[in-house]
Amino acid sequence: MKIGKRLQHIDAMVTSGYAHIWDCCCDHGLLGASLLARHMAPFIHFVDIVPELMRELETRLRHFYPAMAADASPSPVLSAWQVHCIDVASLPLSRHEGKQLVIIAGVGGDLMVQLVRTIHQANPNADIDFLLCPVHHQFTLRQQLIQLDFQLLEERLLEENRRFYELLLVSSKTRKMQPRCRVSAVGEQIWLVHTPEQADVASRYLSKTLAHYQRMQRGQHVDVSPIIEAYRAVAIQPHR
Ligand SMILES: C[S@@+](CC[C@H](N)C(=O)[O-])C[C@H]1O[C@@H](n2cnc3c(N)ncnc32)[C@H](O)[C@@H]1O
Repeated sequence: MKIGKRLQHIDAMVTSGYAHIWDCCCDHGLLGASLLARHMAPFIHFVDIVPELMRELETRLRHFYPAMAADASPSPVLSAWQVHCIDVASLPLSRHEGKQLVIIAGVGGDLMVQLVRTIHQANPNADIDFLLCPVHHQFTLRQQLIQLDFQLLEERLLEENRRFYELLLVSSKTRKMQPRCRVSAVGEQIWLVHTPEQADVASRYLSKTLAHYQRMQRGQHVDVSPIIEAYRAVAIQPHR
C-alpha cells in the first residue's frame, strides 16, 4: 500500500544494521509493512494497543507474507514479522539480542515522552535507537531527550497536509568513532536548508511555533518566555 510523505520520510531515515525494528503505535501497520517489504531488519515488530486493529493487521500480514511470520521459521534472508497487541510502554526489548530501533510516530509529544522514558528506564544499558515523529509538543519531547542524555543522529522537518512534523533519530548510546551530538532544545539540522522550498517550510514552521508560544505567554497561565527566546534565536541558514 502507498504511504504518505511523512511515513516515506520516516521510512527513508531507517538504515540497515538493526536486529529488531519496532513499529510502535502502528495503527494499520503501513510503515512496518514498507520496512518489511524492503527487508530492513531480520525482525520487524508491529505494536499497537487496539485488539481489532492488530487482529486485522495479523490477518493481512498472514495473507501477504505467510512465509515471513515469525512463527513460520522464515528464511534467514527474509525479514520475519510479529504482531504485538500491547502498550508500547511494556515493549519486551530485553527478550531480544542485538541493536534495536524503536519507531514511534503519529502520537502526541506528551505520550511520546512517557513512552520513551519508560522504555529507557526498563532498558537503561541496551543499545536502542529511537525514531520519533510526534504530533505537537516537540519542545517538551526534546527536553526529555536532553534530560536522558540521548545523542542526536539525524533530524528532519517536513510539511504534510499543512501540518509540520519534526522527525528525530536519536540514540540512547554514544556511538564509537562519532562525535557526540547533543539534542538541541529547538533543533539545529532542521534550520539548515538545502533548497528554497525547505527554507519556506522552515520559515513558516518557525513563525507558527513562535506564534503558538506567544499566544500561550499572553494566556499568562505559564511562563514560556525562555522558549520564545530560544525560538527567536533560531537562524534559518543554507546548508554548507
Ligand atoms: C494515529 S495512529 C499513528 C499511526 C502511525 N504510527 C502513523 O504515524 O501514521 C496512533 C496509534 O497509536 C496507538 N496507541 C496509542 N497509545 C498507545 C500505547 N500506549 N501503546 C500502543 N499503541 C498506542 C493507537 O491505538 C493508534 O492506532
